[in-house]
Amino acid sequence: MARSRTLYRTLAALLAIAVVVVLAIRLAGVDESEAPSAPLEANTAAGDDALVDRGHYVALAANCASCHTRPGGVPFSGGVAFETPFGTIYSSNITSDARHGIGKWTSADLRRALHEGIAAKGYRLFPAFPYTSFTKITDQDVSALYAYLRTVPADAYSPPANGVLFKQRWAVAVWNGLFFRPGRFTPDPTQSAEWNTGAYLVEALGHCGACHTPRNVFMAEVPAKAYQGGSLREQVVEGKSRDWSAVNLTPSAAGLKSWSVEELAKYLHGGFSPRAGTFGPMNEVIGHSTSNLKVEDAHAMATYIKSLPVGGEAGTPLTAALVAPGEAIYRDHCQKCHGTSGRGGMFAGPPLAGSAIVQAEDPASLVNAILYGAAPTKGVSLGAWETMRPYADVLSDSQVAALANYLRGTWNNHASRVDVAMVSKQR
Ligand code: HEC
Ligand code: HEC
Ligand code: HEC
Repeated sequence: MARSRTLYRTLAALLAIAVVVVLAIRLAGVDESEAPSAPLEANTAAGDDALVDRGHYVALAANCASCHTRPGGVPFSGGVAFETPFGTIYSSNITSDARHGIGKWTSADLRRALHEGIAAKGYRLFPAFPYTSFTKITDQDVSALYAYLRTVPADAYSPPANGVLFKQRWAVAVWNGLFFRPGRFTPDPTQSAEWNTGAYLVEALGHCGACHTPRNVFMAEVPAKAYQGGSLREQVVEGKSRDWSAVNLTPSAAGLKSWSVEELAKYLHGGFSPRAGTFGPMNEVIGHSTSNLKVEDAHAMATYIKSLPVGGEAGTPLTAALVAPGEAIYRDHCQKCHGTSGRGGMFAGPPLAGSAIVQAEDPASLVNAILYGAAPTKGVSLGAWETMRPYADVLSDSQVAALANYLRGTWNNHASRVDVAMVSKQR
């Protein structure tokens, strides 16, 4: 079943690529360099301090820095590589540099980019830039963001050229027609002010769904499955990448059912709660974004997330024969910190019973935690918990698979089987 789905997806992706390539050849020459050029206004002075401060806050909540700062690069100068099934795309330089950055952009240009996904020169931006979420940002916040970006020091870096399919910017118009619904955030009057603040932060700025909502073969988020868990690929170093699964954020038993609003707020604000600590891609999200928000804003986000409708497939239950072999491995290597019945402990580690990482439909993050260990980003303290080491050199692929199946089929956890090939792929 899982295999035929993978096959279907691969075929559909190949078909999509073929269609794009054929169209690209027929329309060869229609690319960004020939896109009509809009007149650019000259630099204007930066806005007042309050506006800049709000803009800085909006930039933190939207985590512009993470995607626009490559390792070792000047902040906002771009060059972060995003690997997709359609090739590699690099983020742009958005410093105030007039030639290499967006120093010549007007506030209206920035608004069009965020709300419609169109650059100042008129070419379409790819949805690796999450304008599908940013379209919900209010006009006031775009103006604030603009005032703040004017204060970002210029840098003359140019990102590398994109993969060949990512030069066909006209194709985005087709994609937008199918999958993009532009429009500002509208508060829901039947909900509390806190809920609406949280909804705005999660949906418009935080773009949590960019990772946590599953995507179809065209890399578009599937609205009917919002926040039910997605997959992503992260570059570890040049030429080497790692797959991750972003957990189900709905209150399903395989998602955040066991978390209280307070625990989720604490995790987003401090990187640590009795439920879990941060590691993996959430280190960037929490380190660069949510830990910098006001406590009440983190609480508002948690309030909104905990109100999401329950969703997500319950995995096919594992048979006792598949679960049993991992028990001894757990006892020998993990029990010390994660406890006899997976409940964790205040001086040891987080609970694995009810964990969204353990039960994610795609086990990539669970396997990564075991192979590569789990450690928070700098500045985050995990209280009295002990550090979890990597087990790549301790356990074989079949031991990791057996262990994962034990965790996914015991203590009321429910998730589908992890096979050895899956572990080998992650190693
Ligand atoms: C998830 C990653 C991600 C986040 C978050 C993100 N960007 Fe980007 N951004 C990109 C990528 C990738 C591109 C390049 C898109 C392309 O070339 O089609 C881009 C392009 C842009 C461009 C177009 C620049 C040009 O010269 O064409 C602007 C402007 C921009 N981003 C501003 C922002 C701002 C402001 C924020 C925060 C509110 C932000 N981005 C957050 C990934 C991101
Ligand atoms: C860049 C992709 C990405 C974005 C954006 C993102 N997440 Fe995550 N998230 C992940 C991945 C991958 C995991 C699982 C591994 C890990 O914890 O890093 C995860 C895990 C989580 C967990 C479970 C942690 C645990 O250990 O059980 C929570 C809660 C969470 N994310 C909330 C959020 C919220 C809220 C937002 C929006 C502010 C968000 N995430 C944005 C990728 C992302
Ligand atoms: C020395 C104590 C220790 C040992 C031994 C240990 N862990 Fe951990 N584990 C932790 C800590 C602490 C964290 C939280 C790390 C963080 O969030 O940065 C963690 C996190 C995890 C997570 C992520 C849980 C979640 O929901 O976020 C998983 C899964 C996990 N460990 C599995 C295992 C497995 C399987 C073993 C045995 C091979 C193991 N751990 C051994 C301390 C330990």
